[in-house]
Amino acid sequence: MKTPEELREQFLVTVESCQDIKEVEAARLKYLGRKGLLAEYRKNVDFKSLSPEERKEFGKGFNEMKNLFETKISRQRNEVKIRETQKESFTATERSGEPRSATSVVSKVMPIDMTLPGSGHSIGSLHPITLVQMELENIFMGMGFYIETGYDVETEYYNFEALNTPSDHPAREMQDTFWLTNGMVLRTQTSAQQVRALEKYGVPLKAIFPGRCFRYETVDSSHENTFYQLEGLVVDRHITVANLISVMKLLLSQVFHRDVETRLRPGYFPFVEPGFELDINCLICGGKGCKTCKNSGWLELLPCGIVHPNVLKSGNVDPEKWSGFAFGLGLTRLAMMKYSIPDIRIFNSGDIRALEQFTVSL
Ligand code: FA5
Repeated sequence: MKTPEELREQFLVTVESCQDIKEVEAARLKYLGRKGLLAEYRKNVDFKSLSPEERKEFGKGFNEMKNLFETKISRQRNEVKIRETQKESFTATERSGEPRSATSVVSKVMPIDMTLPGSGHSIGSLHPITLVQMELENIFMGMGFYIETGYDVETEYYNFEALNTPSDHPAREMQDTFWLTNGMVLRTQTSAQQVRALEKYGVPLKAIFPGRCFRYETVDSSHENTFYQLEGLVVDRHITVANLISVMKLLLSQVFHRDVETRLRPGYFPFVEPGFELDINCLICGGKGCKTCKNSGWLELLPCGIVHPNVLKSGNVDPEKWSGFAFGLGLTRLAMMKYSIPDIRIFNSGDIRALEQFTVSL
């Protein structure tokens, strides 16, 4: 008859060599079954020859060995199960041709494995236009401007008529837009907020209106049908072009953190008189000419001018007493220049890889 040590040794070797569930079950029956080796070992003991102390001792040792066998069998059963599931799931993935997902395999195999690195959560990132908008809002807040965003869907009155652009005005041609069946428009310009703000807050007024605009445009590397502008409006006593230029210069130097070459040329907008176009030297090509600046070396960025008396009148402001300047910064184009993004289509592409790489320097 085998000693308890020999039996334990033999049992461990058998169980650890089991490769599948069937072999584990066979080992269980061989050692723990009703007619198994453990039962046989117990049967062969001559209890009559043992003292009560020795019987107690034997009982304790026997139970310990039985517990060990049961625990070991149960562990081995789990281990071979894990191995089998792992094998199955890899084979299934290979068959489907899909790339192996470590997490899917692990979650099937091990509900909790504290040793694995966490899967991590992406907290996302701000869109580059949002970053630039935030940066500009900070700059303007520092100059005492207040901020209002206005409405994507506007009335024809605020988008055109109140801005000295009646329905028969040729300048309507400059901004083709999307009309709703109820006669409203997707606003073509943040200028639509000018008269709303004058009506609401009166004068003096210093405000910016960042927001989305829409135009029926052919999309190319510098034109989108949906883009962002940031309107500025200052109305006070004795406002002149000098005030306008100094604010524009301050704005650009703070946004780009360096001097940027600009040029001011006459520009026509029915709601300003005089009107200007402030262009910046294209920062994509350094002014040499590229498809972003249409080979001109310059990018139209900041149309502006002195507010037309008719606009002040629309806002119930007396043009004899008050004057102002306004500008309509192309926020999307500014973001292109600031981050050297050569194609405007990237902004609305939804391509996270392109959009998540920008940070703001406040
Ligand atoms: C206007 O929209 C005027 N409301 C600006 C203005 C405001 C003038 C106040 C005077 C006083 P314009 O159509 O040029 O102007 O557009 C202003 C800027 O918006 C452009 O310089 C450009 O940077 C940007 N922009 C215009 N159209 C598009 C477009 N399709 N895609 C991307 N950016 C555009």
